[in-house]
Amino acid sequence: MVRILFIGDIVGRPGRELVRRGLGPLCDYHQVDLVIANAENAAAGFGLTREIGDQLLEWGVDVMTSGNHIWDKKEAIDYIGTEPRLLRPANFPAGVPGNGRYLARARNGVSVGVVNVMGRVFMLNIDDPFAVVLREIEALRDRARIIFVDFHAEATSEKIAMGWHLDGRVSAVVGTHTHVQTADERILPKGTAFLTDVGMTGPHDSVIGVEIAPALGRFLNAMPARFETATGNPRLNAVIVEADEQTGRATEIERLSYSMEELGDLPEVRATNYEVRSK
Ligand SMILES: [Fe+2]
Ligand SMILES: [Fe+2]
Repeated sequence: MVRILFIGDIVGRPGRELVRRGLGPLCDYHQVDLVIANAENAAAGFGLTREIGDQLLEWGVDVMTSGNHIWDKKEAIDYIGTEPRLLRPANFPAGVPGNGRYLARARNGVSVGVVNVMGRVFMLNIDDPFAVVLREIEALRDRARIIFVDFHAEATSEKIAMGWHLDGRVSAVVGTHTHVQTADERILPKGTAFLTDVGMTGPHDSVIGVEIAPALGRFLNAMPARFETATGNPRLNAVIVEADEQTGRATEIERLSYSMEELGDLPEVRATNYEVRSK
C-alpha cells in the first residue's frame, strides 16, 4: 500500500505557514508516503517563485502541481525548466516550458506517476485535457502502477466527467482550482479514488483566498479593486488516497480540513470524523 497526501491550492503566506508547521505532524499521523501539493497560488496568491517552491520542497512536499496561475510570476518560466518536481498543466500547447507529468518515488519505495491537466469550461481554451491525459498516463504506465491526477478545473461537471473517463485507468483523480472543498469523495467502481475539489490551504475568512472587502466590493459596484491575499482563519485542505501498488486500485480516500491549532494537536488527538474537525 502507498498513502498519498494531496494538498489543495496553497494560498500565500497563510497557506505556506500551514504547510511549514503542519506537514510534519500530518505526515506522521496519517502515515503518508508521498506528498503532492498544488502550488499555483503560493506566492501572495499569484503564481510561484523559485524561493517559495524550494521552501515547499524542503518542508516535505515531493511534487508540486499548478494551474492557470502558473505564469503569474515570470521567474516561474525559468524555474519550471530546471525543477522537474514542479508541473504545469500537460495540455498547454506544444512548446510551452515545463512538463505535465512526473515519476515520483514514495518513502516506501513505490513509484507513483503524477499528472496535471487543466479544464476548458470557463477557463483558457487550451488543448483537450481528456485526450492529453491519456497520453500522459500512457507515458508513465510501464514505470508506475499508481498514477495520481490533479485536474485543475472550474466546472464540477467537467471534473466529474474526468473521474469517469479515468476510472480504472489511474489510482486517483482530484480536482483543484475552485478553492472550496467538496464532500463527494468516493472510490469509483473500477477502483479510482475521486474528489471534485480538494479545497484551499490558506485563509478561509476570505473570498477564495482574497480579502473580503475588495472582492465583495467588485460585486457591489463593478469597479476595479486591488486584490490582496487575506489572512483570517487559515485552514489546510487536503485528501489522502491509499492505493495498492499491485493493482493500482485505490483502497481508501479521506478528505481533510485542519486549522493550524488542530494540526498542532494532531499527535495527541485524533478526531474520528469530518464533522468534528471542520468548522
Ligand atoms: Fe488556485
Ligand atoms: Fe486555478
